[in-house]
Amino acid sequence: MKKSDKNSELQFATKAIHAGYTPDHTGAVMPPVYLTSTYAQVSPGHPMSKYEYSRTANPTRDVLENCLAVLENGNHGLCFASGCAAFNTLLQLFKPGDHVIVSDDVYGGTLRLLANVFLQWGISYTQCDMTNLEAFKKAYTENTVLIWLETPSNPLLKIMDIAALCEINKMQSKPALVAVDNTFATPYLQSPLTLGADIVCHSSTKYIGGHSDVIGGALIVKDKALAEKLYYYQNATGAIPSPMDCFLLIRSLKTLPVRMKAHCENALQIAEFLQNHPKVSKVIYPGLSTHPQHALAKKQMRDFGGMISVVLKGDVAFVNQFLQRLTIFTLAESLGGVESLIEHPAVMTHAAIPQAHRQKIGIEETLVRISVGIEDAKDLIADLKQALA
Ligand SMILES: Cc1ncc(COP(=O)(O)O)c(C=O)c1O
Repeated sequence: MKKSDKNSELQFATKAIHAGYTPDHTGAVMPPVYLTSTYAQVSPGHPMSKYEYSRTANPTRDVLENCLAVLENGNHGLCFASGCAAFNTLLQLFKPGDHVIVSDDVYGGTLRLLANVFLQWGISYTQCDMTNLEAFKKAYTENTVLIWLETPSNPLLKIMDIAALCEINKMQSKPALVAVDNTFATPYLQSPLTLGADIVCHSSTKYIGGHSDVIGGALIVKDKALAEKLYYYQNATGAIPSPMDCFLLIRSLKTLPVRMKAHCENALQIAEFLQNHPKVSKVIYPGLSTHPQHALAKKQMRDFGGMISVVLKGDVAFVNQFLQRLTIFTLAESLGGVESLIEHPAVMTHAAIPQAHRQKIGIEETLVRISVGIEDAKDLIADLKQALA
């Protein structure tokens, strides 16, 4: 029996280390990196194993895909060259005339793909505040085929009720597929497939990778027929990750639980510090009782994550000065690494979103987004204190 087959009764930390791989005939404790594009065949059309060509399948990628499937309580994992490549492959399943409902506060690149790539192929979309279930019901059209949501959302850290949204979807005459971008929460904190979603998506560039050294993406599903369609498009469109990147992600998954625990502990301390600071007008962190969906976050997530958004008092010049004074936090896009990063969404990650839309949904000009790393919280708080002074 493969280790991955008997993983369901094990605890998360054990699965993160063992799922998907059993030492091979050499006894190698870590999965080998199969740096091969092709595989020898015994006779034409009869490969020596199930492998023929590495775009279609690669043993190192298989280990990563199987481990992610186990961690997300799914049956099938598919890995991609980036989070955007994963979403792109999913959207390829649809046809002109189809319609997508997408949460209003969403990674800018996700919106860019819908607005600037798929709209011209006839796939329309409606953005909707999915914390408002009535607004969500009204966003359906008779052609709605996909619900795409991010929770916690980027950068406003809104929490959407996955189970309630899936229930509403089930009541439609033609239920759509529900896809949850689980990048911010990770499978350690939240299990969308267990809450009724059909698809979990990841930018594994973030917490799954955890060390800011890989770009990657993933889709995880339960349903075999859906997985087969996705495998077809993964192979046909070819946005697959390299074996070396898969190896790095396998290595990273082993420490996901310890890293996430440290991210969550540090983030709560920093959120509490910032909440009491006179230069801060608002702290958005799902773990604070002041967060509008704190109760839902407590119910839906196992902890509150490592992301904090903060609105500073003062003007953009003060924000700039604060960002440049920091010495431990690195001013950079991306998130989820062991090192603390900070960024200015209106100018950086969300600059592609029109200012009017940013304003409408609450991405203020003085909002900064913090990806709290796993350094010592005392040093992080001291750095924020001196930069705000
Ligand atoms: C929530 C979320 N989803 C998807 C993506 C896209 O992932 P990638 O950059 O790996 O293509 C990002 C990137 O920042 C993200 O933050």
